Amino acid sequence: MSGNEEQVLKVAMPKGRIYKQASNLFREAGIPIPIEYEDTRKLMIELPDAKMEFIMAKPVDVPTYVEYGVTDIGIVGKDVLMEENKDVYELLDLGIAKCRMSVIALPDWKPSIHPRVATKYPNVASAYFREQGQQVEVIKLNGSIELAPMIGLADRIVDMVETGQTLRENGLVEQTEIFSITSRLIANRVSYRMKNERIQSLCDRLQEALAARV
Ligand code: PRP
Repeated sequence: MSGNEEQVLKVAMPKGRIYKQASNLFREAGIPIPIEYEDTRKLMIELPDAKMEFIMAKPVDVPTYVEYGVTDIGIVGKDVLMEENKDVYELLDLGIAKCRMSVIALPDWKPSIHPRVATKYPNVASAYFREQGQQVEVIKLNGSIELAPMIGLADRIVDMVETGQTLRENGLVEQTEIFSITSRLIANRVSYRMKNERIQSLCDRLQEALAARV
């Protein structure tokens, strides 16, 4: 066994909607994350036999833990990667937690003189409207973004759409898809060199697990 193989690999997992799919994929790749952690409030899980440690992070913080090297790798949605723009390697498209980033409005939306866009993703939204040559005021919100056009805070929103249920239940429509989203495996740049063998072997196992799904 080489020195590299003995090092503990630290992984930042996203709490919430991605966690279940990500931990299923790890199990299919032979990494036995106990199923009971799906309902736990525990923030750190150690798997001594696999020489791995997992932290349960708020999804938006995963790239920060990885960039600072407190975890070697992490699982994060492409939406967060685009918004946070951190200095990390994107290693693998895991194909899980599929959804899309879209511009959304009320069905009777019309262009206005002072357009306002509410979003959890101000960088993504600003870049998109800049590319479109549209001047808009971007308003940052932290959740329940769909409320903004309903109560007149903004005339459009930029948000994630998964099943479309939130839009349907609130009478909103998708105008344009900006990009599609899946979860990605990311790595700290130094860890990728220092623990290359371990990270590469994990990538291979995850890729095999993904291939076995088709
Ligand atoms: C996300 C997103 C949409 C919704 C889309 O919100 O911001 O509101 O999910 O999913 P759907 O198309 O399946 O309805 P989230 O559940 O993260 O809650 P939030 O309102 O706190 O952002």
